[in-house]
This record gives sequence, C-alpha cells and structure tokens, in this order.
Amino acid sequence: MECKVQQPVQQFQDQAEYQALMEGLERSKFHKALILPLIERNTEKIVEIGCGNGVVLDLLAHNFRKSQITGIDLDPVMCDAARKRCLDNVDVLLTGATHLPLADESVDVVIYCSTIHEIYSHGGPHEVDNSLSEAVRVLKPGGSIIIRDTVKPAPEKVRVNFKKDWTRKRFRTFIKDYKVMPARYRQLSDGAVQVELDYFFEYLTKYFYEVGWHKEMDEIYGYFTKEEFRDKLAQHGLKVAKMHSYLLPFFEEKWSKDFSMDAPFPESTVIIKAVKGQ
Ligand SMILES: C[S@@+](CC[C@H](N)C(=O)[O-])C[C@H]1O[C@@H](n2cnc3c(N)ncnc32)[C@H](O)[C@@H]1O
Repeated sequence: MECKVQQPVQQFQDQAEYQALMEGLERSKFHKALILPLIERNTEKIVEIGCGNGVVLDLLAHNFRKSQITGIDLDPVMCDAARKRCLDNVDVLLTGATHLPLADESVDVVIYCSTIHEIYSHGGPHEVDNSLSEAVRVLKPGGSIIIRDTVKPAPEKVRVNFKKDWTRKRFRTFIKDYKVMPARYRQLSDGAVQVELDYFFEYLTKYFYEVGWHKEMDEIYGYFTKEEFRDKLAQHGLKVAKMHSYLLPFFEEKWSKDFSMDAPFPESTVIIKAVKGQ
C-alpha cells in the first residue's frame, strides 16, 4: 500500500521536546495494551480520539486485523507521526474531538487513551461534554466508549516527606508555576508538608519532567474521580460496564524513591468501558 506522509509542521520548541514526547508515548505501550481485552474480537469499526503518534493505533491494527480503524488528532505533527507507521487497516484524520467526520451510529468502539485530560485542560469541562456527545452520536446502539486516563484522588489531606533535596526544591517551583488550581499545602517545621492530595497529585505526575515542563504546567491530570467519571458517563447515556484503577508501576517506582507519605500513594490510572443503550 502506498503511504503518503506530509512534512511535520514544527510546533515544538526544539527537536529534544519532540523526541521526549514521542518516547514518552511509546514507553507506556505495554500498559495501553490493557484496553485490548475490552474490545470484542469481531468489532467492525474502532475510532481512537487523540491518537497521538499512533501507539494505540499500532496495537489495534495488529490485534484487530479485520477491523476498520480510524485515528483522529487535532495536531498535524501527531497525525504525521501516526501515518508514518503505515498501518494497513488504519486511517488518520486531522480533526478535533468535537467534530468527527463520521456518520451517526456508525462506530462500534470509541477510545480515549490519555486524551480526556488534554481536552479538559485546554478546552475545559464543556469541551469534554461536547466530545462525549459527539462520541455518543457516532456510536452504534450497544457500542462502547473505552477510556484510559489519569484519575483524581478522593479528598484527603496527607503529610509528605521529601527524600531528596531536588524534589523539595522542585515543589517550590511547582507552587510558583502551576496556576491551574490554587496551592493548598502547609509547610511543617521538619521540612515535610501537609497537603491536599488532589493538589499534590498534580505535582506527583509532573515533577520529573525536564523537557516540556511549561506544557505540563497547563495541564490537569486529576480532573475526575472514579465517581465523577461514572456520573459524567451516565449524563451522556453511557453505563459503566467495567472500571479498573491502579497505580502505574512507573509512578510507584519513582514516587517511593523520592517521597514518603502517611497514606498509600494514590492510584494514577483508570480504565473504563461504558456502553451506549440499545
Ligand atoms: C497524551 S496524547 C495520547 C496519544 C495516544 N492516545 C496514546 O495514548 O499514545 C493526547 C493526544 O490527544 C490529542 N488531543 C488533545 N486534545 C484533542 C482534541 N480536542 N481533539 C483531538 N485530539 C486532541 C493531542 O494532540 C495528543 O496527540
């Protein structure tokens, strides 16, 4: 099959930023594969919203060879990176999550893998609603939405000890740079802090970024708790069939080297399958 790829449009500060982002997406491929068992073998049409450089498209193409798969992304650099994979049964479309160029009730499965937190961060909660409405419009009755993303911890105040000097300093930088939510912490005399877990979760999921720090400072990872996901999906007529949440080993390994807390580390990730009524 001929595979045409446009030249990437340079939207990144430099090549290092582009490279780091691509490698970051690839690194969690094994964990993204956890969504595959949620998809039925004979599925005809699968759409991934926010396909990035095509890591999930690659998994889908190799595991569902008979399915027709569409990746959509609003970033032309990402679309080009995804197209470069030249996957036989995959189309990649440059478009946003709220305007899918797809017919009503034409899709069996819509996937959002690490995408809703970006829609929420850059478009706000209404944009998440607009995207879910659009996903429901294109879904066949009985079709499903699969979400894999970060998850907001339930409200809790925790005491945190910084095991390394740089992570303590980094927290000061985070307090200064992160404007998405108000800082909610109290400095304790022994160098530890008492902090609201949902605020600290934002730090925990970002503190290790060297390249791309400024981008991370615009994003919120803990936008919905598990209950809020359930409620939001119900508002769109979607019934949760499966929900599984856990702490990604990548985070657990890092966090346990860098911090100790008087409570277990929060779960980082949720995987949800929700079904549209017949
Ligand atoms: C963190 S990446 C995840 C990529 C891929 N799903 C994966 O898991 O490897 C999120 C992607 O969503 C895309 N994105 C964010 N907001 C979007 C929107 N409103 N419409 C379409 N794509 C969007 C971004 O351009 C980015 O490529």
